[in-house]
Amino acid sequence: MEQDKDETDEEFDEILDKEFNEILDKEFNNKFETNIDELQKRKIDNKRRKKIDQSKKRAVIESVFDERTIFQLNRILTHGPLERIEGIISAGKEANVYLAYDRSGEEVAVKIYKIDSNTSKWMRNYIIGDPRFKKIPSNISKTIFLWASKEFKNLKRAFKVGLSVPKPIYIKNNILIMEYIGFESIPAPILKDIKSPKNINDLLDELLDFIKTLFQKAKLVHGDLSEFNILYHNQKPVVIDISQAVSIQHPKAEAYLVRDIKNMLNYFKKLGVKTPDPKKFYYEVINLDN
Ligand SMILES: Nc1ncnc2c1ncn2[C@@H]1O[C@H](COP(=O)(O)OP(=O)(O)OP(=O)(O)O)[C@@H](O)[C@H]1O
Ligand SMILES: [Mg+2]
Repeated sequence: MEQDKDETDEEFDEILDKEFNEILDKEFNNKFETNIDELQKRKIDNKRRKKIDQSKKRAVIESVFDERTIFQLNRILTHGPLERIEGIISAGKEANVYLAYDRSGEEVAVKIYKIDSNTSKWMRNYIIGDPRFKKIPSNISKTIFLWASKEFKNLKRAFKVGLSVPKPIYIKNNILIMEYIGFESIPAPILKDIKSPKNINDLLDELLDFIKTLFQKAKLVHGDLSEFNILYHNQKPVVIDISQAVSIQHPKAEAYLVRDIKNMLNYFKKLGVKTPDPKKFYYEVINLDN
């Protein structure tokens, strides 16, 4: 469902962007909610779209995003892949994650990055040097959009080689939709919160295999792999938060790889599991003899 932009879509984008800017230009009551109401009214009048129900509206208003993000989210709810947003799963510094439903009633996870200048500054470190991103935007929101699309692309690459990550579904600006990991409305816990995971040796093998396959087949290094970014679902690991992953050609790829290996092995060591020698495993991943 990755958006394929045709001309009409672009024209439509332009019209909506124009309307959006006009509304923002208006110096009426700067209150967030008023803007949202105004945006929705216009959209409904102009496009005669079905009325956005109260629950959607509430969910949208409750979240603390900039107007452009809310506007985009409303568009996705009116004629994009989302039917409704159910509630928040996680509120973080850089992004919030929501449980939502797609048009066929399936649960999906929606990750929305906040447009924030501090965030965009450190994000640039990971983007600069990655051969996949030749143009580095100077603008804050564009850096965040690039970051979100980077997570989407990384997910796609990992998913394609059969790794256990949420299936990427849709990306638009700072809004990423992916497969929801959980049972009904209960999201899977992070590995950090599981006291004693079952079949711990299998879990170790799976995660080491994840690191190796990600490097050798998807040609990526996760860069923030730890028990905080692994969901434990059906007694199996699902790796998330892959936005900072870099291409193996990135100048810091090997340093990140060493860090990922150390984090993972330390986690298992603390649980009393016998772990392989980190150096040996590192060479195995990069496929060199010791
Ligand atoms: N696909 C998913 N299905 C279910 N829950 C998810 C999914 N993706 C993320 N989550 C939940 O949202 C939380 C935050 O997600 P993620 O780690 O990707 O964001 P983050 O960048 O770490 O955000 P921050 O660091 O700002 O908190 C996860 O710990 C997990 O609980
Ligand atoms: Mg995380």
